[in-house]
Amino acid sequence: MTIAQRVRAVVDAHRGERGALLPILHRIQDEFGYIDPEVVPVLAAELNISRADVHGVITFYTDFRSDPAGTSTVRLCRAEACQSVGAEKLVADAEQVFGIKVGETTPDRSVTLEQVFCLGNCALGPAAQVNNKLYGRVDRSRLVEILAEDHA
Ligand code: FES
Repeated sequence: MTIAQRVRAVVDAHRGERGALLPILHRIQDEFGYIDPEVVPVLAAELNISRADVHGVITFYTDFRSDPAGTSTVRLCRAEACQSVGAEKLVADAEQVFGIKVGETTPDRSVTLEQVFCLGNCALGPAAQVNNKLYGRVDRSRLVEILAEDHA
């Protein structure tokens, strides 16, 4: 099944629902790991909305990605409790260590760096999630260790 056929099947499952675009995009991202730009015109035609509208929703919600994530995904919490114990320093350190900005993937596709706003680990900030595993009191060296352990 091509991407377009799969997208049409997902749209069919949500046909008639109000506000179907968001659940459809989530389902596509769950299935493919990202939303291929090829999906945009298919969704626009199927839902009878403009490509700009589909594109606008994808870029507005940071949950959606337009390219495949790296082998490891590092999410750093930037919400208030973590900010008060050094989250911004951790973000700056991570950007330096990986040589990318938040929202980017390293050129070798080993790491994607993302921000989140609360991981429910507020008492143990700065909090991070690496490949869906939660960590607390993370600093630069701990982050490097976590990634090394993860790849061991
Ligand atoms: S504020 Fe960072 S985990 Fe809640």
